[in-house]
Amino acid sequence: MMDWQTRPRCDETPAWQALGAHFAAHFAGGQPFDLRAAFAKDARRAHDFGIEAPHVFADLSRNLIDRQARALLVQLARECGLPEHRDALLAGAQVNSTEGQPALHPLLRWPAQRQLPAENLNEIHRLSLFSLDEMLSFAEQIRSGRQINDVVHIGIGGSDLGPRLALEALAPAVLPDAPRVHFVANMDGHELAALLPGLNPRRTLFVIASKSFGTAETLRNAASARAWFEAQGGVDAPAHFVALTARPQAARAWGVGRCFALDDGVGGRTSLWSVIGLPVALSMGRAGFQALLAGAHAMDQHFAQAPLPVNLPVQLGLLDVWYRNFHRFASRCVAPYHHGLRGLPFYLQQLEMESNGKRVDARGRALPLDTAPVIWGAAGSNAQHAFFQMLHQGTQVAPVEFIAVREAAHALPGHHRSLLASALAQARALMLGHADENGHRHLPGNRPSTFLLLERLDAASLGALLALHEHRVFTSGSLWGVNSFDQWGVELGKRHAGVVEAALESGQTGGLDAATANLVRRLREA
Ligand code: F6P
Repeated sequence: MMDWQTRPRCDETPAWQALGAHFAAHFAGGQPFDLRAAFAKDARRAHDFGIEAPHVFADLSRNLIDRQARALLVQLARECGLPEHRDALLAGAQVNSTEGQPALHPLLRWPAQRQLPAENLNEIHRLSLFSLDEMLSFAEQIRSGRQINDVVHIGIGGSDLGPRLALEALAPAVLPDAPRVHFVANMDGHELAALLPGLNPRRTLFVIASKSFGTAETLRNAASARAWFEAQGGVDAPAHFVALTARPQAARAWGVGRCFALDDGVGGRTSLWSVIGLPVALSMGRAGFQALLAGAHAMDQHFAQAPLPVNLPVQLGLLDVWYRNFHRFASRCVAPYHHGLRGLPFYLQQLEMESNGKRVDARGRALPLDTAPVIWGAAGSNAQHAFFQMLHQGTQVAPVEFIAVREAAHALPGHHRSLLASALAQARALMLGHADENGHRHLPGNRPSTFLLLERLDAASLGALLALHEHRVFTSGSLWGVNSFDQWGVELGKRHAGVVEAALESGQTGGLDAATANLVRRLREA
């Protein structure tokens, strides 16, 4: 058994060297790999590059990878101690080494009745179930009380993106007696100002979602919301302001009436499963929230148990490493062909780029290799009429991840078949290309894509889809040797913001760099 803390980094293994040699011989040189040729000579390719995971089927056959590279990547995962690292994550070890914390998101969806993967998790699991239950009961109370028409969820980053995406995705399943939920994230007051006039203070609940209860945007919006509440004659502010936080003392000192706690060991970008998911519980009820957790847990179990060659999060993470470090693709395009998943690219941007956008490994050594690609994208079919041109004929290759859903949740005839056809057609066109003597009309083809397919978009499949991505990001981060659970890079901007704001207020630009000082002066000109 390898020790997960002293595992080698991917570039320190024999498999890495073998992958480099294989790439040079079969992808960069010789007769470079071509998808059309690969399908022509391998009748089983479409079948054998398919993986069945809970709630998600993945077709990986249209990727620039052959069987040998796939086998070497699995070997790489073993040589890097990925299984040991995964088991440490699931057992609640301190995988977030720079902050001395575990990463508790899998524990949050661990069922109450099931035996835990490690004894030492008993107490923390009991506490997390307790606070989750408090949150779920509160949600039921709000719904059945019928006093609250509107809920304003104030939070940013991981305290916003998950619940926002879940409500967009599950909109058709919102319970008839659920209050309307609005999200406010941005420091930009235009967002909150546009919302407030439509609210009745007596019928509105403000939810302040902030793990740290120290995020400038959230505290600013919360303060403005309370000022508005009071100015509108709202009474009993504590009954109308609640907090979801790991700092209940700070929240109480601020003046909220009730606090629902999350553990410090839950990362912001993986906190949907905690009390941060209150908007989901308000809209979908206890059963809906439990279904979300159950879907994620099913994917956790798959990640924990499926053999590496058919382990979907592992295979996606390995493909990400293959693309980033051997093909040198700088980005990945996410194209969900479902209106309910239009927020998925934003959610995945935080999940992947905040987790793996790192330049040193967990031991602090500068990395000699690239890490997180740029994640970008938009819902199809809209995206086809915006940036797909570049995917087909641009000079840089960006692998595309299509996400489609077999069943629609609406009854409009024809739409869904056409939508699915669009997704399939784009994947096909990217691969096949089009030979034309007129260079403008020539499409080179051989452009890679992955196709993820859900039966239907419901709480369980959404849970599985998001957990799949969490573990995929863990896998690539584990191989790169980074700590996927910290985010020191975002702190510096926060510190500068305080200094610049003081300069904007006072006009004192001493100590600022010339460019900032110049803009501060311009902004202060009447
Ligand atoms: O600035 C980044 C970040 O710390 C994210 O990691 C986090 O999800 C977000 O800010 C919000 O943090 P909080 O929930 O503590 O307000």
